[in-house]
Amino acid sequence: MGLQTEKVKDLVKLREKARIGGGQKRIDAQHAKGKYTARERIAMLLDEGSFEEMDMFVTHRCTNFGMEKSVFLGDGIVTGYGTVNGRLVYVYAQDFTVFGGSLSETLAQKICKVMDQAMKVGAPVIGINDSGGARIQEGVNALAGYAEIFQRNILASGVVPQISAIFGPCAGGAVYSPALTDFNIMTKGSSYMFLTGPKVVKTVLGEDVTQEQLGGASVHSTKSGVVHFAVDSEEEGIEITRRLLSFIPQNNLEEAPQMLNDDPVDRVEDSLNEIIPDSPNTPYDMYEVIGAIIDNGEFLEIHKSYAANIIVGFARFNGISVGIVANQPKVLAGVLDSNSSRKAARFVRFCDAFNIPLVTLVDVPGFLPGTGQEYGGVILHGAKLLYAYGEATVPKITVTLRKSYGGAYCVMSSKHLRGDMNYAWPSAEIAVMGPAGAIEVLYGKETAAAENPAAFVAEKEKEYKDAFANPYNAAKYGYIDDIIEPRNTRFRIIRSLRQLATKKLTNPPKKHDNLPL
Ligand code: HXC
Repeated sequence: MGLQTEKVKDLVKLREKARIGGGQKRIDAQHAKGKYTARERIAMLLDEGSFEEMDMFVTHRCTNFGMEKSVFLGDGIVTGYGTVNGRLVYVYAQDFTVFGGSLSETLAQKICKVMDQAMKVGAPVIGINDSGGARIQEGVNALAGYAEIFQRNILASGVVPQISAIFGPCAGGAVYSPALTDFNIMTKGSSYMFLTGPKVVKTVLGEDVTQEQLGGASVHSTKSGVVHFAVDSEEEGIEITRRLLSFIPQNNLEEAPQMLNDDPVDRVEDSLNEIIPDSPNTPYDMYEVIGAIIDNGEFLEIHKSYAANIIVGFARFNGISVGIVANQPKVLAGVLDSNSSRKAARFVRFCDAFNIPLVTLVDVPGFLPGTGQEYGGVILHGAKLLYAYGEATVPKITVTLRKSYGGAYCVMSSKHLRGDMNYAWPSAEIAVMGPAGAIEVLYGKETAAAENPAAFVAEKEKEYKDAFANPYNAAKYGYIDDIIEPRNTRFRIIRSLRQLATKKLTNPPKKHDNLPL
């Protein structure tokens, strides 16, 4: 009994030792930078008292550069599982207080273990990154460790949701793990991601850049699109992670949890009958439409500051989680371009992989013309969105609010891409192109020869608008299932979701697709 007590005491002491990672001085240094420690982050993320730590006693095996003299229990990462709002998740958080959170062979094995467990059980994986990259003393073993993680990220993709929070450095090849996961969150000012740091950039290119300019949260959330959420604090990043999880299922064989809903299903939103301006060139704010039709106006927007001409994010209709994709007439008239196509394609594919129905709100004047877009591969990027919608088998509900022109008509979840319910508002205009362009192509010579070219164009444009600037042509062919009053949009979508709840559709068997990358 006495001996047992001693052994238990030893265990308690060892646990305490493991819990302080690299020691109080380094913890203080972490706090002084305005950052939390790995354990504090996990405690914030998970439901109170739910964390079960794994591999607390793992240590590295490196003997290069005298490393055997410097050993820390847990080896620079905290791993395990717990719950978020009662639902199981696997977590790992790099511990910057131990060798700067740098990745060793054993540290990688700890990450791989929770990822393997998450795959067996079918639960999301959340990784919190704060690391100096490959542990230099371990050489190729550190690189091997990264590659083992990448392989698991790839196999887990589309099977269990993967979320990366970047709350510190994430440099070199280390960036590829977040890049392979579904959603990335970065803290402004205290985190950065880049393949090569400012010193290398200076040496190779002679460019002077700061870490923030090269790979700060604002860069990745506005310019590169690598990051889905740029947050002001770690608390906000954790809160977003928890909210995100509430919209998505545990794995690809399950559905997202249905929430209790107190927003009336038959709520009629009169303001929508008047939201479309008289002039087709006057913008309106698509956020107002989204906010008016979803449950309690609660919208979790993804990629808010990137390619703002398209809006994507999660919302609920009568408690059912959906992915919303909507053109934004207020930004670049809602045109599709390379970045907005890539942004929406990735979101559509996430939703399809995880059984989340898609609601698409269309007001798109077409694809952005010009050499900038063409040289940048808009054909391929636009094809990604086309492909994503075309391969998606989840329920797809489309509402065309106003413009739906040209290739963009086909792309935006049209009937022809297996749209299940395609609605249009009476203000919809579905045509090969807008009136001005069409008249130019059809009547260029006649306009030049006309006595009064402006009057001639105006007359022809009127003719064109009367013929095409409406949804009735498309409805005549069954490409639009119904033309609805805007104010009824919410309950028409909810009814459609109910109708489609048991939808079954499969794509032809194949090894994998060949998405135009
Ligand atoms: C071993 C490392 C380390 C690393 C940091 N440390 N990075 N140890 N390998 N990669 C250690 C430091 O020696 C220090 O130990 C402690 O962590 C804290 O680091 P500091 O430099 O004191 O912290 P700070 O000033 O905040 O600077 C953080 C940093 C810097 C900017 C991340 O440490 C740094 O530049 N590290 C190297 C980054 C790097 O180039 N990594 C390789 C990237 S390439 P003590 O004992 O003093 O506390 C890569 C390839 C991956 O990762 C390929 C995958 C395929």
